[in-house]
Amino acid sequence: MKAYLVSQPGSPNVLEPQNLPDPIPEKGKALIKIKAFGLNRAEAVTRMGGSFDAVKFPKVIGIECVGEVMECPGGELNPGQKVAAAMGGMGRKYNGSYAEMIVVPLANVFPIETDLDWITLASIPETYFTAWGCCFESLCLEKHPKIVIRPGASALGIAITQIVNHLGGQVIGVTRSSHKVEKMMKTGMYKVITSSSKVGDEVLETWSNGATGVVDTIVSEESVKDDLSMLAKGGRICLAGSLADSYGTSKSADFKDVLSLPNTSFFSSEGLHSSKDTQNLQTIIDRVEKGFYKPYIDAVFDFEDMVIAHQKMDRNEFTGKVVIKINS
Ligand SMILES: NC(=O)c1ccc[n+]([C@@H]2O[C@H](COP(=O)([O-])OP(=O)(O)OC[C@H]3O[C@@H](n4cnc5c(N)ncnc54)[C@H](OP(=O)(O)O)[C@@H]3O)[C@@H](O)[C@H]2O)c1
Repeated sequence: MKAYLVSQPGSPNVLEPQNLPDPIPEKGKALIKIKAFGLNRAEAVTRMGGSFDAVKFPKVIGIECVGEVMECPGGELNPGQKVAAAMGGMGRKYNGSYAEMIVVPLANVFPIETDLDWITLASIPETYFTAWGCCFESLCLEKHPKIVIRPGASALGIAITQIVNHLGGQVIGVTRSSHKVEKMMKTGMYKVITSSSKVGDEVLETWSNGATGVVDTIVSEESVKDDLSMLAKGGRICLAGSLADSYGTSKSADFKDVLSLPNTSFFSSEGLHSSKDTQNLQTIIDRVEKGFYKPYIDAVFDFEDMVIAHQKMDRNEFTGKVVIKINS
């Protein structure tokens, strides 16, 4: 099969196209023919060596995909079944989705029923699983929430916007990049604030009672103080990333200290499991089919153009999700 193997961390050029032996599944796993997959910031971090000991090279990276089951030795899934697969060590502990085929433990294979096209489908799993977890498991959102997301231009930020709007709520998205504002507004955000530092005062000018919730994927000392400054009574903060170091002057907050704050929790998609999360994914997909959630796909690349896609991701050119399609 064709795959991109990373032998050592570095620039997008370390994504080397290679012909690797087709992987062979054992009991408890499924062999999947990959049709498409979304790109994730976490993969750029891994590619650059930022996953440290969690990833040993050489490795095929890539933490999610959609496709069809080719073989499942235990018989739990039938050949041809449409599936999504994500996390659980994919592209970190074992070879990931930057490939034509993948073997995945069944705990991280999510069977789905849908007529959505592969590209739309590929934009969903990791991003919407995380958005769902942030909204319902961490922030415990109910009707009409008022949510601030930083950075709001991420694929995750835009997915959260869809969920909040469906609850009849409003989202304020924060970005450093003024060229992203127009696209962010088109995704349904109530307001976009362009800032690389504090936004609390501007949020309180817009919502005098404060925000019901903040999703913070920067998590610096400054960002968390600012999150607290704009929170409504009883509001919650969801920490869901660690971009702080790429924000120049920001200093990463100590997670231990931050998580001891009241009403603050951390969501990680690392805990996804097919036994508890398959129904959530099916609900998300059904809502996409009905038009309640509108995945925002900024760009689609052929598998052969992986290096270009990563170069553009490194240059912060995208707003929302990027999908790679496999034509074979
Ligand atoms: N907890 C979880 O399970 C989970 C799952 C998925 C994602 N996440 C986290 O959510 C965040 C967004 O992930 P994503 O995959 O949705 O990201 P993405 O679509 O690639 O979003 C990128 C955003 O990150 C900001 N950014 C910061 N440093 C950057 C850099 N060096 N290059 C480019 N952009 C940079 C940009 O902000 P500006 O708009 O201000 O330029 C941009 O809007 C990340 O922190 C990621 O780790 C967490």
